[in-house]
Amino acid sequence: MNRRTFLGSMLAVPAFAQPSAPRVNGARLRERIEALSIFGRPDGGTFADGVSRVAYSDADVAGRAYVMKLIEGLGLKPRVDAAGNIFALRPGTNGTLPPVLFGSHIDSVPNGGNFDGDLGSLGAIEVLQTMNEAHIATRRGVELVVWQNEEGYAFNNGLAGSRAAAGHLEAGELDAVWNGMKKSDAIRKIGGNPERIAEAKRGPGTFACYLELHIEQGGTLERAGIPIGVVEGIVAIDRYDVEVRGFANHAGTTPMAERRDALVAASMLTIAVNDTVRAEPGKQVGTVGQLNVIPNVPNIVPGTVRMVVELRDLDAKKIAAIGERLQARAREIAAKTGTEIVMRPAAHHDAALANPQVQSSIEAACAGLGLKSQRLPSGAGHDAQMMALLGPMGMIFVPSVRGISHSPLEFTRWEDCARGADVLMATVLDWAMR
Ligand code: GLV
Ligand code: MN
Ligand code: MN
Repeated sequence: MNRRTFLGSMLAVPAFAQPSAPRVNGARLRERIEALSIFGRPDGGTFADGVSRVAYSDADVAGRAYVMKLIEGLGLKPRVDAAGNIFALRPGTNGTLPPVLFGSHIDSVPNGGNFDGDLGSLGAIEVLQTMNEAHIATRRGVELVVWQNEEGYAFNNGLAGSRAAAGHLEAGELDAVWNGMKKSDAIRKIGGNPERIAEAKRGPGTFACYLELHIEQGGTLERAGIPIGVVEGIVAIDRYDVEVRGFANHAGTTPMAERRDALVAASMLTIAVNDTVRAEPGKQVGTVGQLNVIPNVPNIVPGTVRMVVELRDLDAKKIAAIGERLQARAREIAAKTGTEIVMRPAAHHDAALANPQVQSSIEAACAGLGLKSQRLPSGAGHDAQMMALLGPMGMIFVPSVRGISHSPLEFTRWEDCARGADVLMATVLDWAMR
């Protein structure tokens, strides 16, 4: 080839069509997402029936064992820290540099889907395996993490493992009891050591950057026809435990005027959450997603209702103000219904912004792979928001079909899963070679 033809052929191939990172094995990633889905699958169900792999359940323990076996298959030794998070470090050539940390979670909400957390965890394993197969040596180490109890259905407080790593556990949290189980025992059940939980703390500067691949869980990317989302920031989340105390009495003999019906009051409060959140412009959201009616018997006026109010927005002050307005509404409703309503803050997670350099690196990875990308906020909470307290953080989103998540109908096309893992691979390598 003469010089002119050579230069011509270089020009004919745009730079973005020359990925410097190897591509992941999308078929293997799919097989593993399908294999993990067995742990927590409803009896007699299929992949399409989703998963209930609530943190600390037997299904969670079995799923974690499956993941640790995959890690061993990479020639790495999984390490379970005192909080119960799973780590695996693939060393770099310079052992003095902080590694690139990346991963997600494998616990699910009850009746959840097969992609939330699982894609980022198994995608991270796929990245490591692809690096092994391509015999890539990195300057920095690359470290995989699978966080425990991201969802926070158990103990009504999520990001449990990443909060321990960020030193954000709450006072007395290990003594909390949920479903008859003490949190310290739950941590023991997954191989952690609650007595030494302080050792799970990672200081600032213990990683070069934190990356998390995740499904979008909303419909923005699918609507726009864009395969990769580059997260700008993650919302703040406030949760309140609410107890409505009425009086349980005979449903046939208690006149309407004499009732102190806890469910009527709880219903009014639920409507108040919806109205208060909608009353001002913005993207804030508010939900009552959990309600326990006691005694929950058809012919007894409900005596007690326990419910959880959850508020989210990128602006933490905005949801704090809405929380105060709801406290006032709760007092009015209690007076009107002859009940007592106690609304107690249960969990607060700060909003977190992604690091601009990490965002640019993800965008460069997309360009290198010839993939369009778009910046967008995350309405879902992620362990990444805790890691943002310790170092540069970035997240890679892939489209959720019909924007459905926290549902067995949650689905991300397999080619989009592989694309997301390719972008993760290229971004990890970019940072690992710095
Ligand atoms: C976690 O998925 C959350 O946003 O609640
Ligand atoms: Mn998740
Ligand atoms: Mn989730």
